[in-house]
Amino acid sequence: MRKDLLSWYDLNGRTLPWRAAKGQKIQPYHVLLSEFMLQQTTVATVGPYFEKFVERWPCISDLACAHLDEILHGWQGLGYYARARNLHLCAKVISEELGGQIPEKEDDLKNLPGIGIYTAAAISAIAFGNPANVVDGNVERVMVRIHALKQPLKSIKSQIRDLSAKISPPSRKERPGDFAQAIMDLGATICTPRKPKCGICPWGFQCKAFQNDLQDLIPARQDKKSKPKRYGIVFWVKHPDAGILMKKRPNKGLLGGMVVVPSTEWLEKEWSTKDAQNTAPFKTNWNPLPGVIKHTFTNFHLELSILATNVSKIGGPNDFIWIRPEKMHEIPLPTVMKKVVQHALKLS
Ligand code: ADE
Repeated sequence: MRKDLLSWYDLNGRTLPWRAAKGQKIQPYHVLLSEFMLQQTTVATVGPYFEKFVERWPCISDLACAHLDEILHGWQGLGYYARARNLHLCAKVISEELGGQIPEKEDDLKNLPGIGIYTAAAISAIAFGNPANVVDGNVERVMVRIHALKQPLKSIKSQIRDLSAKISPPSRKERPGDFAQAIMDLGATICTPRKPKCGICPWGFQCKAFQNDLQDLIPARQDKKSKPKRYGIVFWVKHPDAGILMKKRPNKGLLGGMVVVPSTEWLEKEWSTKDAQNTAPFKTNWNPLPGVIKHTFTNFHLELSILATNVSKIGGPNDFIWIRPEKMHEIPLPTVMKKVVQHALKLS
C-alpha cells in the first residue's frame, strides 16, 4: 500500500510553495513555517501568507530578529494569533539557543514553543526524512475509511494513531516525508470529507469503506453543537488629528498582541447601553452608530454594536493608542476589528 500511494503521489502530488521542486533540497525553515501556518488553516489560505513571509524573512534568524508586531501584522487575517506568537518564540529559541539549526528529532522539536505531537512528527518526517507517525485530520479520515471504523472519530483517536503507525514507513528508505504528504494530498483531493473520488483512489481496492459502499457514512458525522452567540459593544472615539482610539491586547489569550477597538467584554447576553457605558474608556455622550458587526470565531458567533463619540483632547490610560485612518493598514488588526473599522469609518 505504501508503494501504491507513493507512486500516486509522484504523479499527482500537489505543487505547494513550501515543497521542494524535483531535485531541489528541502528547506527545513519552509517546512516549519508552513506547518505553523497550516495548523487549523487550509492550504489555499496559507499559500500567499507563506510566500509573503519567506520573502520578508528568508531564514529563521530573520524571523527571530523581527519585532512581534511585524509578524502579527503579516499574520493578520490568518486567525489563531497565538500561532504567530509561538512561531516568533520558536524562531528565537532556534536562533539564539540552537545555533540556528532546527532540531531533527521529534522529542527535541516538541520542546519548542507551538510545536505539538503532530507538528513535531510532520517536521521530522518532511524536513528531515525521519520515520514518524504523522496524524492530522486527513490521515484520520483516510484511516477510518480504510478500516471501515464506524465510531465517531473523537472516540477512537488512539486506535487511529495505532493504525496510522502500522502503515507509516518504518525506515528512511521508504520516504516518510513524501508518505506523510501523500496521505494529506489524498485526503485533500480524493478521500475528501464529502463525495470522495473512490473510483480513482490508489487505495480503492484495500479500502473497506469503499468496498462496502460505506464511504459516505464514514467517518460518522458528529452532531455539530450549535455555537453560542456573544455580544459586545465597541467604543469608537474619533479625534480630528490623532485619529481613532485603539488598544493593544495583552499578549496572551484570544487576539493576543493584536490591536483592537476598545470594547466591553463579550457576553452571552445583550448589553444595555447603560451597562456598556459604565465600562467605557471615559464618561461622555455616547451615540449609537447604526448596524451590527457580525463575526464567527471557532467557538462562538459575535455581534458587536458601536457607541461613538468625538473628542478634542487626547488622554486616557497608557495602553490606549491613537491611529489615524490612513495608518490602519500598518497595524496588526484582527479580521473582526477590520470589519468594525471599515463600518465605522463609513459612518463617522
Ligand atoms: N497540511 C499540513 N502540512 C501539509 C503539507 N505539507 N502538505 C499538505 N497539506 C498539509
